[in-house]
Amino acid sequence: MFNLTHKVAVISGAAQGMGRATALAVAEQGADVVLIDRNADGAHATSQLIQQMGRRTLVAETDVSDPAAIAELFREVDRVFGRVDFLGNIAGDGHLSKPEDLQIADLHRVLQNLVVGRFAMCQEAGRRMLAQGCGSIMNIGSLASSTALGRGHIAYSMAMGAVIQMTRELSTEWSHRGVRVNCVTPAQVINPSLQTRMDQDPTLEGRFLKGIPAGRLGVPDDIRGLAVLLASDESQWITGAIIPMDGGNMAMNAGGTPGHEKMAVQSFRSESAKRHWSLVIGHSGEGHS
Ligand SMILES: NC(=O)c1ccc[n+]([C@@H]2O[C@H](COP(=O)([O-])OP(=O)(O)OC[C@H]3O[C@@H](n4cnc5c(N)ncnc54)[C@H](O)[C@@H]3O)[C@@H](O)[C@H]2O)c1
Repeated sequence: MFNLTHKVAVISGAAQGMGRATALAVAEQGADVVLIDRNADGAHATSQLIQQMGRRTLVAETDVSDPAAIAELFREVDRVFGRVDFLGNIAGDGHLSKPEDLQIADLHRVLQNLVVGRFAMCQEAGRRMLAQGCGSIMNIGSLASSTALGRGHIAYSMAMGAVIQMTRELSTEWSHRGVRVNCVTPAQVINPSLQTRMDQDPTLEGRFLKGIPAGRLGVPDDIRGLAVLLASDESQWITGAIIPMDGGNMAMNAGGTPGHEKMAVQSFRSESAKRHWSLVIGHSGEGHS
């Protein structure tokens, strides 16, 4: 199960964060890995770890906003490996601005990066996978693919919304020809830019945690299991799926309460509300049922 020997994985954002975690995870299961990142030093550091596992690597300092550069990279992948089995479409940037102040040039930049770039990666990988008759693509979306974040995320959310529709369309067109396309939608996963925003606003982490029943923020390694599952033949009937990786965030209504920490257990029955209110016990902490 989950053996990736003889498979070739192309991973963007491989210098750090979820891209690096994905690259290491699929390499541990046996895959050779193409490591893409504009941070070449970081990608080479990931590459060294993978080579120590005995796998082959190719490092590319490709900007995933640039379809021409992506096409050139895949020609190099053809020369070096001759196949593509898994695409981890992970690298990407947003831009924060109030909607009323957002410059159209900045919106174009985000759409180019997260929508056009992700699509160009899918297209280049997908053409090769269709020719082989098999392959798997894991796009990274976000909570912002289907819910609003506020705090200036307008451009990012518009782009991430497109990523899940891209996933559904590609899955619909390609799955009967052996190419599966899925999208993972993480909640807050600690990375340097998120850490900076939390440092600047000390209330932010607490607000995030109110929406995460699992009780902690994500870490890049949280993607390892999903990446290996989606890269492997064990997920052959999983396609077109939008898979939350969010500690329960999407499952919970905004008025929901993580855990069961309220001091009161309320009744749905208004006529007996007073009687049931007697369940209020004046202590908090563990052991409530
Ligand atoms: N961290 C989160 O909370 C979170 C949540 C949901 C979605 N996402 C998305 O997941 C993806 C990865 O997030 P992360 O936290 O691992 O990011 P990260 O910032 O830790 O790492 C991103 C990596 O991608 C590289 N990169 C960025 N733009 C690039 C480009 N145009 N060309 C080549 N390389 C580029 C960076 O150099 C960096 O190494 C991003 O698209 C992000 O928007 C992140």
